[in-house]
Amino acid sequence: MRTIVHGDFAYSEKITEISTLKGGYMVVEDGRIQGLVAEKPELEDSDRYLDFEGRLIMPGLADMHLHAPQFPNVGLGTDMELLQWLETYTFPEETKYQEVDYAQLVYKKLINKLWSVGTLYSGVYGTIHEEASTKLYDLFVESGLHSRVGKVNMDRNAPDFYVETTEDSIRDTERFIKANLDKSERVKPIITPRFVPTCTAELMQALGELAAKYDLAVQSHLDENKSEIDWVCSLHPESDSYSHVYEQFKLFGAQPTLMGHCIYCNEDELKLMANTDVMAVHCPFSNANLISGIMPVKRYLELGIKVGLGSDISGGNEVNMAKVIVLSMQLSKMLAVHNANPEDFLSTAEAFYLGTKAGGEFFGKHGSFEEGYEADFLVVDDADYLINDLTVQERLEKFLYVGSEQNIVHRYLSGEVVEKPFDI
Ligand code: GUN
Ligand code: FE
Repeated sequence: MRTIVHGDFAYSEKITEISTLKGGYMVVEDGRIQGLVAEKPELEDSDRYLDFEGRLIMPGLADMHLHAPQFPNVGLGTDMELLQWLETYTFPEETKYQEVDYAQLVYKKLINKLWSVGTLYSGVYGTIHEEASTKLYDLFVESGLHSRVGKVNMDRNAPDFYVETTEDSIRDTERFIKANLDKSERVKPIITPRFVPTCTAELMQALGELAAKYDLAVQSHLDENKSEIDWVCSLHPESDSYSHVYEQFKLFGAQPTLMGHCIYCNEDELKLMANTDVMAVHCPFSNANLISGIMPVKRYLELGIKVGLGSDISGGNEVNMAKVIVLSMQLSKMLAVHNANPEDFLSTAEAFYLGTKAGGEFFGKHGSFEEGYEADFLVVDDADYLINDLTVQERLEKFLYVGSEQNIVHRYLSGEVVEKPFDI
């Protein structure tokens, strides 16, 4: 079936500029974009016509790093650095997910929120609990949103109320994969060692093997905080770097890999990232809250490293990726001034690209309006805050800075509306 979508389009093709088309038409065939055209195509009886005259139409947003069980903790504990914050706030909260009813309540609220803010694609951490992680997985399947969902692994250096044996961790992970792998094309399991300090070599070895065996992506944390890096170095004196520990176990680009934070990568690690399938996921709210530092995003891009953006709920306090896009620009400007490289900041086009196309492509042909991409988009009504006549590009900028979820009137995936997932 053919669908024609009418409206004012803004999207990324290239990282250097925002592509726009005012009063244009998106031609969609079987959920896939055939093209954007300026002239209204001749309509046939069987065509569906979606008239969003005057509305801004943009790609869905991609949150490439968030912790679903930390949603109740948003806004708490931000006077602490990473390791103390994990012990004090995060592990105690995550322990609660042995109760599946609690998990279900929180996860429904979270997925509703992701839907509301236009996050159509996500890389998500559950907890160590197999049952609650499968609940999270099933709720994503039910929502219709795209996601990669991981059961977290941790078999060392964790409190005794929140730790697994190596054997249980491997067995539960494989069971989680097998039970869920074929449930949906939009949701897939992702191998999720929490980070090196909480995973033994034996566990990481097994996880690398599971990633290869089931052809799964990997997600974890890397070079987020200086005490964390010192800890990794003391745990693995045999390794040249934090990244090399993962690499040694085939958890660093042997399969598509999302590494959260990547603030303090050395030259060697950057080379490795540029040459393998690793995406550095920038989480600016978290990095500010947990006093972690600033990822030099622009430098990574220049080195040819893939970069995406993440909320890192609840290290980060902002679920709305439009705001994450904005803070990524703002922090890059602080870094540029601080490093006396005033030109070396992220432009709006660059940051928008990272939050849409760069992340979306992790899931396939998503996150742009080029031919062959899935017809995934957000319809934005920005009339309430527009005062002057603006170009489509300026309206997109305005939405990122001052718009809110209330301005998103529809969310579409492959040409079909996605309704609010849960009635709670
Ligand atoms: N490193 C290991 N676990 C976590 C986590 O839950 N959040 C963040 N920000 N960093 C981590
Ligand atoms: Fe994280």
